[in-house]
Amino acid sequence: KKRIKMDPLVAAIDQGTSSTRFLVFNAKTAELISHHQVEINQSFPKEGWVEEDPREIMQSVHECIERTCEKLCKLNIDVSNIKAVGVTNQRETTLVWDKDTGEPLYNAIVWLDLRTQSTVERLINKHKTGLPISTYFSAVKLRWLLDNVDEVHEAFLSQRAMFGTVDSWIIWCLTGGKNGGVHCTDVSNASRTMLFNIHTMDWDPELCRYFDIPMEILPSVRSSSEIYGWMVSSDTPHSTLCCLGDQSAALVGQMCFNEGQAKNTYGTGCFLLRNTGTKPVISDHGLLTTVAYKLGKDEPACYALEGSVAIAGAVVRWLKDNMGMVQSSSEIEKLAAAVGTSYGCYFVPAFSGLYAPYWEPSARGIICGLTQFTNRNHLAFAALEAVCFQTREILDAMNQDSGVPLTQLKVDGGMTSNRLLMQLQADILCIPVVRPTMSETTALGVAMAAGAAEGVGVWSLSPGQLPHVTSERYEPQINPEGKTVRVKSLQWDHMTYMTQDIQQ
Ligand code: G3P
Repeated sequence: KKRIKMDPLVAAIDQGTSSTRFLVFNAKTAELISHHQVEINQSFPKEGWVEEDPREIMQSVHECIERTCEKLCKLNIDVSNIKAVGVTNQRETTLVWDKDTGEPLYNAIVWLDLRTQSTVERLINKHKTGLPISTYFSAVKLRWLLDNVDEVHEAFLSQRAMFGTVDSWIIWCLTGGKNGGVHCTDVSNASRTMLFNIHTMDWDPELCRYFDIPMEILPSVRSSSEIYGWMVSSDTPHSTLCCLGDQSAALVGQMCFNEGQAKNTYGTGCFLLRNTGTKPVISDHGLLTTVAYKLGKDEPACYALEGSVAIAGAVVRWLKDNMGMVQSSSEIEKLAAAVGTSYGCYFVPAFSGLYAPYWEPSARGIICGLTQFTNRNHLAFAALEAVCFQTREILDAMNQDSGVPLTQLKVDGGMTSNRLLMQLQADILCIPVVRPTMSETTALGVAMAAGAAEGVGVWSLSPGQLPHVTSERYEPQINPEGKTVRVKSLQWDHMTYMTQDIQQ
């Protein structure tokens, strides 16, 4: 068949906690041309432990690329039109592999994993990485691997060990693996390890000493938009690669390039990032300071304040996989909408402790307010409310830190196709919620960064040349009976769960 020559295409590998996707965009119009998605298995070998198989992650990447390319061929589109591939990824998840054999030396320890809780409790609380010490970040996971996995320790002693977050693993594998793969990461991912100095933009020798991490196993740190290397597999030949952590990619995809602009992404967890420009801002209200992106070798780094919520979409997956309440995640909306209330039932899905603004690793999930009247519909509604309440807490902290309240919230991610959730979110925040019609913002963001890289140049990130995106808007629906909107805000206080009214 004759292949159609068309506008240049740019692609994204989006490797999230729950699934892997490969998406292809038109670099002129930002139109999503084709994609494929594969769910990723998680294992829970012990209470609080969360692991994924690095081989399965790579298989899913190859499968998504192959299936998408097949779909492009069916559309008569030449895959050689793909000029660059960006990698965006679940952040903090920690891997160590053997550079000689190319094999992982242990499962990937997922960001949600709590095995390092006792180590964390012994360590002090805040330093120059912009992050509070928590089980969330990579340094403590890597320390655990070096201390507890013989294969990792031996590989380190014989100089065969390589550490990386998921971006590094994927890029190393795709650029040749044991036959000369590129071992690197970008500033946004590096800033989530607790080993990276967000002021000097480099690995920090003092922090590495503090966590007793050998610097020789760390990847080199690059900007988020430059050519790291070329894909050597036959999937999409010679496409160039670069990367961005998934929350940073969503910030770029939502075009939040100006100080004060913010977005909230609803994935496995939920992450609200507000661009603070070229200066790192330290939070007084439990938020993180993170490197948002550095879009080019010679461009300045931009920072963000981040409110991280560990469990958002994961609560729906838990209701599906652990409770068997629904067959597929999308059923949750119908279930909750059938009653339209939680009927006094509250769900605090603190499965992995509580992240921002509490940073309380010992918190655990709770469902309360149950009566004989409560049924699975109410529980489904309470689960969705829990996602919205957690976002409300983050937004309050963000507004207090910045002193300039957000007047609307840009949202994206898988859960935003749930219209009931979006309306609930607008009601609970008391500000409009704006969702792009094409909700794959994370993938779009890294595709833009890849397309804009020097030497690729098929996408411009200049303000006047950004793609136009259409969106839908959810206005808060104020109770017509009066001015008070009942909003219950969650607070975890020594196992006490409180609710409070907020006056509108
Ligand atoms: O920090 C963890 C985050 O990057 C995971 O994102 O989309 O898998 O929930 P997601």
